[in-house]
Amino acid sequence: MTPFLPLVERVPFFYPQYWSITLDNIVSLCKRRGFIFQSSAIYGGINGCWDFGPLGVELKNNIKQDWWYTFVRQRDDIVGLDASIIMHPDVWKASGHVDEFHDLLVECKECKKRFREDQYNPEEDCPNKPHCKGEHLSEARAFNMMLKTSLGASEDTAVHTYLRPETCQSIFVDFKEVYSSSRMKVPFGIAQVGKAFRNEINPRNFIFRSREFEQMEIEFFCKPEDEEPYFEQWKKDVWQWYLDVGLTESKMRWYSHPQETLAHYSSRTEDVEYEFPFGWGELQGLANRGSYDLTQHTKHSGKDLSYFDQQANERFTPSVIEPSAGVDRTALALLCDAYHEEEVEGEKRTVMKLHPRIAPIKAAILPLVKKDGLAELAQDFEKTLRKKFPTFYDQAGAIGRRYRRMDEAGTPFCICLDYDTKEDQTVTVRDRDTMEQVRLPMDDVAAYVEGKCTNERD
Ligand code: GAP
Repeated sequence: MTPFLPLVERVPFFYPQYWSITLDNIVSLCKRRGFIFQSSAIYGGINGCWDFGPLGVELKNNIKQDWWYTFVRQRDDIVGLDASIIMHPDVWKASGHVDEFHDLLVECKECKKRFREDQYNPEEDCPNKPHCKGEHLSEARAFNMMLKTSLGASEDTAVHTYLRPETCQSIFVDFKEVYSSSRMKVPFGIAQVGKAFRNEINPRNFIFRSREFEQMEIEFFCKPEDEEPYFEQWKKDVWQWYLDVGLTESKMRWYSHPQETLAHYSSRTEDVEYEFPFGWGELQGLANRGSYDLTQHTKHSGKDLSYFDQQANERFTPSVIEPSAGVDRTALALLCDAYHEEEVEGEKRTVMKLHPRIAPIKAAILPLVKKDGLAELAQDFEKTLRKKFPTFYDQAGAIGRRYRRMDEAGTPFCICLDYDTKEDQTVTVRDRDTMEQVRLPMDDVAAYVEGKCTNERD
């Protein structure tokens, strides 16, 4: 450290707790390393749509797989579904989305921009128009957020419907098919992961609010008198999952919706929120939907969606507790949480401390040098490891620079083959977070890495 710098310039570099991470840091790393790009960038981009690159798609798949592993495969009371995105238009009438799924929109008559009324901030939203301080706003009007589409080759006969704004409606519509074919008995849940679409008035904060995104939803069907105990149990289960995939607990909190902001189907909603660089934001909603949806679909379709409990010899319409999580928001929270800037040997190191079970690449295989047969040895070793988990081979540049690239990609283990490897078939395994290295026999490496990356909990 140079002693001549004023304290104010020295402190942030040497005391990482003073560095403030901005969303721009995350966006730029995501682009640089191939996690997330703007959609259609060569055509100028399209607002609210994002592409997940080679690392991003692995990250997103790992999130979805871990969620599925936890809530479907490890439980005997939840089964899965993968339903069509496009549904009969009457579904959306019955669900209340045609009449109720809107945000209040205001338009600035000066700059002609449109805003969500509850999010309008004249300072931020009209920065180049100092005279435009919200005095020229129109009256708020309801703007339906469903994206319209139509099916069929002829305009006259086309069916006009919507891209689903939430994945769960097919779960309600298929409720009877699922429980009768899988012989599930209430209480039980149906889980689904998939795309949802909303014509958000103001997509913002990178992938936090987009127009195309993915949800991981469970509709848990229970007796009406059991709603509250299940709601409390789900609060514990969803919270624990975020910890298991590596989120920092002190950056999470519960937010309880007051009655006046509840969605039309809910009698109680609590959100898990995360402290993003731009402030607290919703990660997951947990709602008590009661019997609203099954009752509505029974009414509109004319098909009875009640349930007969043989043991109790009674018929009832089950209540529903719904944990509804966003894949993209989980990815964003994990990326923000993982992003660290540290000082190592006088240089800044940017490292993504993603949990090994979520990290896109589990191990990088690096020959110390390209010559003397080390590259070939390392390539062969990588081929055996890639059968077990995602790997990456890199021989370009100094070993220190290769470690740094892998730190930015969030790769938890770097395996280096050196001259000793040729003699004794051992390698060094470098831990991304501590940067400590252990020497292991090549035959033990796969089990070592798999042991750290497994979805199984301790
Ligand atoms: N079925 C209930 C439902 O859809 P929601 O609170 O509207 O409830 C659930 O959405 C989750 O979906 C949110 O917590 C969030 O993670 C994700 N989500 C909602 N809108 C989103 C958007 N425009 N962009 C990204 N994720 C979104």
